Amino acid sequence: MPAQSMEQLVSLCKRRGFIFQTNEIYGGLQGVYDYGPLGVELKENLKRSWWAAMVYSRDDVEGLDASILTNKKVLKYSGHEDTFTDPLVDCKDCNNRMRADHLKDSKCLHCGSTNLTEPRPFNLMFKTNIGPVADDESYAYLRPETAQQIFTNFKNVVDSTSKSIPFGIAQIGKAFRNEITPRNFIFRVREFEQMELEFFVKKGEDEDWHKYWIEERINWWVQQGVNKEKIEILNVPQEELSHYSKATIDLMYEFPHGVEELEGIANRTDFDLGSHSKNQQDLDIEADVLKNKDSNARLAIQNIDSKEWEVPYVIEPSAGVDRGVLAILNESYKEETLENGKNRVVLALKPHLSPIKAAVIPIKKNDSTIVDFSKQIKDNLQKLGLGRVVLENTGNIGKSYRKHDEIGTPICITIDFDTLEDSTVTVRDRDSMEQKRVKVENLDDLLKNLLVK
Ligand code: GAP
Repeated sequence: MPAQSMEQLVSLCKRRGFIFQTNEIYGGLQGVYDYGPLGVELKENLKRSWWAAMVYSRDDVEGLDASILTNKKVLKYSGHEDTFTDPLVDCKDCNNRMRADHLKDSKCLHCGSTNLTEPRPFNLMFKTNIGPVADDESYAYLRPETAQQIFTNFKNVVDSTSKSIPFGIAQIGKAFRNEITPRNFIFRVREFEQMELEFFVKKGEDEDWHKYWIEERINWWVQQGVNKEKIEILNVPQEELSHYSKATIDLMYEFPHGVEELEGIANRTDFDLGSHSKNQQDLDIEADVLKNKDSNARLAIQNIDSKEWEVPYVIEPSAGVDRGVLAILNESYKEETLENGKNRVVLALKPHLSPIKAAVIPIKKNDSTIVDFSKQIKDNLQKLGLGRVVLENTGNIGKSYRKHDEIGTPICITIDFDTLEDSTVTVRDRDSMEQKRVKVENLDDLLKNLLVK
């Protein structure tokens, strides 16, 4: 059964060290979170899995890690300065501010008043100053999406890799949005990470590629443990499309607080490369772009047959890392009543996502022979490079099992006195709780089989 409430997830995350409110000792910072010792592993594992699927397993995608600080011209020509806004209203009675499109029955979400201002556009981008002089011209932006830095690097990547379309550039990294009302834990935050692919295709082939990527992305989420039945495909209505999009499909997931967007897959046409290109008048750009007087690069590909320069279309699967983490926690969280009447919490994560892959537990905390042997086993398993393996030397096997169930460790390996005699250990499976004796020499294969699929 999935998590019943966001509170259960928030509580587990804090208790076990997955996610903390940032700067909590100073009262926090709204809409910003920190990933703790287990959260950083889970998040990294999710990103690694995306990178493996989007870059390593393909020969038509290259990676990129571009800067967060962004030249204001990029976000001028991308349309963000003019259109990256949410509608803001003020409540004249309680002075709270909120998004007009989040109101229920046109009433203030805080006091229920209908005495509200007219909605006005509020730009979500964070500005900062560059250099020692802070004046009106010295500002830059923190990128609101990773995508723009991919477009501005298009020529660099093409020139250095000799790629021809169809091909993609993938990037994972931070994005920043001054959300009017951050809420629902890590669902809507002001600092978050995105996993974005910009896939460049020939005009006319864009709709087929759009369908292809929708299918690919749903399959990937299912491989991460997300129940396909909890993903809804939303065809974003024309009037709600972003300024760059011809068509967008949102993958909507049943989060604990409601069905909301997990990932968007957009057909961005030739808008982005067309917007950032020089000599636009010589290119057959379909999208309605701002006249670019500043770019020094032609962002187009030469057609080998016609020798014409063509601006590729872009299909963009864009997923939120934090929303992915939330969906995966929600999917894997279980509370079970055992045969003995006791309850246990289990995080039934896919092993490749588990923060800790195996816990090695000496049966006796103070027995140096057993502890040393356990440490040796831990070190050997760690060297396989399959992820984190820990030595859990609390001396309380039951408590260790409960902890590792709760944090999603797929197996616990207990070292006892028999181990010293016959070189076997007890391996306990998180999900079935079954225990079996395994030869120490077979542990490597056991862990590999669990993780390398
Ligand atoms: N480049 C396209 C783009 O940024 P988006 O729909 O605005 O499109 C893509 O964002 C994904 O980024 C969303 O599907 C969501 O998973 C994540 N995302 C967007 N805003 C977010 C926020 N404030 N907090 C957490 N994740 C967010």
